[in-house]
Amino acid sequence: MSIIEKTIKQKEFSFDKNIFNVEKTDYYTPKLFSGQAPGVFNTLTNDHPRIERLFKNLKAQDWDEQETLENSDAKILFKTLPQAHTEPMRRTLGFQWETDTLAGRSIALFAALATTFDRLFEIYIRIADNENLHARTYSEIIKISFDDPEAVLTSILQARETLYRLEKAGKVFSSMRKTLIDVECGLRQKDEHYYKEIFIFIVTLYCIERIQFLSSFAITFAYGDNGEFVAEANSIRRICIDEYEVHVRLGKYLITKFAEDAITLEGKLLASKEVKEVVDEIYQAELKSLEYQLETVRDTGLFGYTVNDFKTWIDYCAADVYKTLDIDPPFKVPTSHNLTYMESWINNDNFQQAPQEEDSINYIFSPLIRDDIGIIYPIKF
Ligand SMILES: [Fe+2]
Ligand SMILES: [Fe+2]
Repeated sequence: MSIIEKTIKQKEFSFDKNIFNVEKTDYYTPKLFSGQAPGVFNTLTNDHPRIERLFKNLKAQDWDEQETLENSDAKILFKTLPQAHTEPMRRTLGFQWETDTLAGRSIALFAALATTFDRLFEIYIRIADNENLHARTYSEIIKISFDDPEAVLTSILQARETLYRLEKAGKVFSSMRKTLIDVECGLRQKDEHYYKEIFIFIVTLYCIERIQFLSSFAITFAYGDNGEFVAEANSIRRICIDEYEVHVRLGKYLITKFAEDAITLEGKLLASKEVKEVVDEIYQAELKSLEYQLETVRDTGLFGYTVNDFKTWIDYCAADVYKTLDIDPPFKVPTSHNLTYMESWINNDNFQQAPQEEDSINYIFSPLIRDDIGIIYPIKF
């Protein structure tokens, strides 16, 4: 035996289990959040093929924010069009910029400390990177659209209405961050209360993406559909596709697959009251924020669309979240909406669907809530 081999044999190894779990035994029975600490990156089994597919799709649809903004004429439009008309665009950009920033940072930490399934860790890291791309896009838009971007940034950050719109998500993300760090430092256990918080985090992120982003895109695309801010609207269309073809689908999938064992089930059950509060609060904040977003066009409307048209669209989006979580919505679910341009702006012809999955566009536009509960249909043999 060489001297080096002797030295290695004699040395006592003390690897922190959270850094690299050399004693891991659940490679063939991985769990999303309640498995053993991660060891070597594992693709040995094909659990959760849906996550794998979403990861590959997100990788394939990567894009460059500067390319999509090449032909921007936003600076001219912001200078020449009436300010009352462009203000909803500016306010919406502010919200989107802040929210993508918040999402990117929170998801990165969550991926690193909360997941025990390598492919889930991997897709979350990719999504965090993708959220940064979104935030970078908004930052670029502000940079090229105004002579004094710093002044615009300051006014965006001072808009209390936008912060109110994000208040619930901010609270949940902040609490999750502290819990993850406490667990990492050995100050807390991964008990049912820990899994309750994990579930609430997933639901909150899903609400941001499914309700808040989609409602904000309705304002952005109204401009693009009418030939204004077209480069910006096209860039944000890429963001929309990332969100709705991948992020939202992952959120929905995790909500349905979360309870994998007794402790995650207990966490999910413990979360139920707060889950309803999260969805209700985000929905209400969205309605309230709409008044601020459209304040300067309240009487004239935006390209002929009224505040109420946008409100109906929020209800339409929120209904899908209430349905996913099996909660009765606090409003009458609309059967249609007036923002017909949304269908073409959201449609992504390049997205490959697995046959068993919902059709891409139907996912967003299909009837959202069953209205036939309690009705017995005659069966003809
Ligand atoms: Fe995003
Ligand atoms: Fe997202």
